[in-house]
Amino acid sequence: MIIPNRFNDQVALVTGAGSGIGLGISRRIALEGGTVIMADIDGAALDAARDTIGDVPGTLRGSVLDITEEADTRDLMRDTVERHGKLDIAVNCAGIVGPSAANIAEYDLSSFRKVLDVNLVGSFIVTKYAINAMLPAGYGRILLLASISGKEGNPGMAGYSTSKAGVIGLTKAIGKEYAHSKITINALAPAMISTPLAQSLDPDKLSLLTDKIPMGRLGTIDEVAAFACWIVSPEASFNTGAIFDLSGGRATY
Ligand SMILES: NC(=O)c1ccc[n+]([C@@H]2O[C@H](COP(=O)([O-])OP(=O)(O)OC[C@H]3O[C@@H](n4cnc5c(N)ncnc54)[C@H](O)[C@@H]3O)[C@@H](O)[C@H]2O)c1
Repeated sequence: MIIPNRFNDQVALVTGAGSGIGLGISRRIALEGGTVIMADIDGAALDAARDTIGDVPGTLRGSVLDITEEADTRDLMRDTVERHGKLDIAVNCAGIVGPSAANIAEYDLSSFRKVLDVNLVGSFIVTKYAINAMLPAGYGRILLLASISGKEGNPGMAGYSTSKAGVIGLTKAIGKEYAHSKITINALAPAMISTPLAQSLDPDKLSLLTDKIPMGRLGTIDEVAAFACWIVSPEASFNTGAIFDLSGGRATY
């Protein structure tokens, strides 16, 4: 249920906003009155995403960004503060799966490095410059995307599982670093959500991962956006360094 005006006067930067979860979160923040800088490596996807959102009370602006490029990410955060006066919210949804059915004996090293670079190093870069953009105002909400595979380990997906375990460690460490500020840093650990990323998985792996969900279905983008928007709202003021499950009952710890 949309909460009108919840993000009025708030400025958000969402990466991976051209598709899936990032698009869903961008849409919901703008529907609730926020200004959203939608960043993605894929400019065509960003244009299409903007069209699917349609008219919203908030403001949407697209920006092509590769989150593994440190200087570009820093510049986009600085530009956001220069244009809008502040950055209240950063949500890092940019991510890739890499190989999804390759045991380590066949897992290509360059693929492993690439998955860690986007999912883990990218999370580091986005968080570092989001924090720097938020510190002067003394307020912020940072949300990273981990995955249940970072807790349990999905066989055949060593790069992805390792990168998401890294995002969990990163969130826990930096949540404590800034606990005395009003900047919170949290992560979501979803099970399979129905997005283009899920459809890119090896079909047998997708069916196996769906079967592991006690609710017997994939999560929806709207379910993720609803939860994410509470975590990045001013109301979520006593949560930091937390890994929030969103798994239809799959998560057991
Ligand atoms: N869909 C799921 O089942 C699921 C489950 C758990 C976690 N997650 C995580 O949620 C996040 C979003 O997943 P999704 O399902 O929406 O994926 P998606 O593939 O639909 O969207 C990911 C977006 O990230 C962009 N991207 C990729 N590399 C980038 C880079 N270097 N810089 C900037 N943008 C880049 C892509 O262009 C794409 O638009 C990912 O981190 C993913 O690992 C997804």
